[in-house]
Amino acid sequence: MSTDTTENAPTAAGHGTVPGGIQDIAFATGHYSFDLAHLAEKQGIDVNKFYIGIGQNTMSIPAEDEDIVTMGAAAAQRIIERNGTDGIRTLLFATESGIDQSKSAGVYVHGLLDLPREIRTIETKMACYGGIGALQMALGLVARNPEEKVLVIASDVARYDVDSSGEPTQGAAAVAFLVQADPDILAIEPAQGVYTLDVQDFWRPNHRHTALVDGKFSVGAYLDALVGAWNDYRAHGGVEFDDIDWFCYHQPFTKMAVKAHMRLTEEAGTPLDKAAAAEALAPTFGYNKQLGNSYSASIFLGFLALLDSGQNLAGNRVGFFSYGSGAVSEFFMGVIQPGHRDHLRAEEHQKILDAREPIEYDRYRELHPGTLVQPVENSTTERRTASPFRFEGIDEGSRHYGRS
Ligand code: CAA
Repeated sequence: MSTDTTENAPTAAGHGTVPGGIQDIAFATGHYSFDLAHLAEKQGIDVNKFYIGIGQNTMSIPAEDEDIVTMGAAAAQRIIERNGTDGIRTLLFATESGIDQSKSAGVYVHGLLDLPREIRTIETKMACYGGIGALQMALGLVARNPEEKVLVIASDVARYDVDSSGEPTQGAAAVAFLVQADPDILAIEPAQGVYTLDVQDFWRPNHRHTALVDGKFSVGAYLDALVGAWNDYRAHGGVEFDDIDWFCYHQPFTKMAVKAHMRLTEEAGTPLDKAAAAEALAPTFGYNKQLGNSYSASIFLGFLALLDSGQNLAGNRVGFFSYGSGAVSEFFMGVIQPGHRDHLRAEEHQKILDAREPIEYDRYRELHPGTLVQPVENSTTERRTASPFRFEGIDEGSRHYGRS
């Protein structure tokens, strides 16, 4: 690990100019938390299979009047409160739990936050890769015009069938961040390693609320994609393994990142065992262990946990690996900037976690939507959320949102 944490630390060494990166970043989540101990008890298994075996403690669950829009709006509102809207010309909303086949969820957020009309708003989708895809698009826009900023939201609700292997890995969260030139938190280096392979490891057809997954196969597909993206990263001017201080992986469950780090260190010729890999990644686990899988938001929650860990990370290089089942993946690098600590929100994030209302198994089952999408009827949702925004109901097939 490099030790250069001075104000003179590199902003992004060795790979040409840095077009942009992350200026501010915040998360929001669902109203409820569900401890995996309740699930283990119901299934009659040792809870350590969840706590230790897959590395997950609790999952967030949205209330009836919450969804990807309300969580995304709650996260984005805090970015706008601190930074204003000046310069924002694009809003990218990444999700794989979309609420409409046509209209971008970002347009609902645009309305709830009363953003200026002179903004283009788009939804991106490629499983859990959608958020990183949006980040790369944002960097392209900022590189073309450094006066412009892009608001990116990654928001997802992860749902699997009841009693399936994926059930303990459900979760929900949204992350919002501002991409701009000369950022204060993270400058993204230009080198990228990308990898696409048509595999059927995880998918969610339109008629289902819950994802279908070939669990063990998906783990192997993730690891193969990691090696593919890493080798492409190195072939395209990426830094050497030893020059990377931290690794931030997509975390469908935190143990997956441990498996990934063991595989990558093996590929790089310096293999780590399970305990050493887990120790190296531990600062990135804090939020995902408590929120569960949040698909497109998960990798950013790993990064936020590292940022909020209280260390001075200035000048540290963070290797990011994003994996979207299906599958698209990417490996790239960011350099944490000297002024990052002035922009953090650790206390705010802790309050959000602590404010969740714990629920037990029966309430969890009430909130689970079941497998198949049913015909939509007019409905009004009960008021439950403590979020600033709520999903009010459906009228003539149209979803309605409002301030709480
Ligand atoms: N104490 C401690 N550990 C225990 C234990 C106990 N009592 N009982 C079991 N374990 C350990 C096992 O030894 C195992 O450890 P290793 O993985 O290190 O071998 C671990 O707990 C899990 O046990 P199983 O392999 O038996 O678990 P499973 O088969 O029931 O479920 C899974 C694992 C298939 C990955 C399941 O969680 C799943 O289907 N998840 C959803 C799919 C997923 O997340 N895939 C990841 C790659 S795809 C992706 O990343 C995209 C995405 O977001 C979906």
